[in-house]
Amino acid sequence: MTFDDGPSPKLTPMLLDMLKQRGIKVTFFVVGQNAAEYPDILKRAAAEGHEIGNHSWNHPQLTHLSAAGVDSQIEQTNAAIRAAIGHNPVLIRPPYGATNAALDRRFNEQYGLKVILWEVDPLDWKYRNSARVEREILNQTKPGSIILSHDIHATTVAAMPDTLDALLAKGYKFVTVSELIAMEKSPPAKPATVAPKAGTPAPGSAAITPPPAPSATPASSDHNTPPPPASPTPSVPATEGSAAR
Ligand code: NI
Repeated sequence: MTFDDGPSPKLTPMLLDMLKQRGIKVTFFVVGQNAAEYPDILKRAAAEGHEIGNHSWNHPQLTHLSAAGVDSQIEQTNAAIRAAIGHNPVLIRPPYGATNAALDRRFNEQYGLKVILWEVDPLDWKYRNSARVEREILNQTKPGSIILSHDIHATTVAAMPDTLDALLAKGYKFVTVSELIAMEKSPPAKPATVAPKAGTPAPGSAAITPPPAPSATPASSDHNTPPPPASPTPSVPATEGSAAR
């Protein structure tokens, strides 16, 4: 489970409470300017076992920026994360899933950041409806899925108790993205981490569906308004934070 665009001063702490009650670990892809504003929330998230990833400084489409512009987005955000939790992130999710092979290579070689997209998208940024968020996540999730959501929308956070409980009831276990990657590198011989429980295939059989290689997977839909490919600017107003909220 991954949450993008925060931290939100009100919603993220509520979400952290829900996760703590259930012993669930997730990954937050934070926007640097929010991370810089609310370092204590990041600090709490990290202390409670969640992973923090880079989601740029202010949510531009990185493929439209100069090399220096990209560097600034990445470095400022890494600095904000480092200031809050004491170390750099190892994951990046480019806003809108907008990236390319050259950028992926640069993130990796220059910053040690692995690009992470997603498989399950409830479009929670678009349809601000908790029941729909829950339904879409439950319908789309398979073992090994990376689920995209946003901890800046009240409807998304309100959907979480029921959504998380339903996934737990199906036997899913939640891990951070780095933990998921580690599991895919060395599949466990014993019952899988994301194994469904009853009435499902025997342990070890397709318990973890490896997500497709991120760089080879064009984001099928975006978690925010997808910028039209032909247009140089996103279709949402580019004012502060608007694209992210
Ligand atoms: Ni985002």
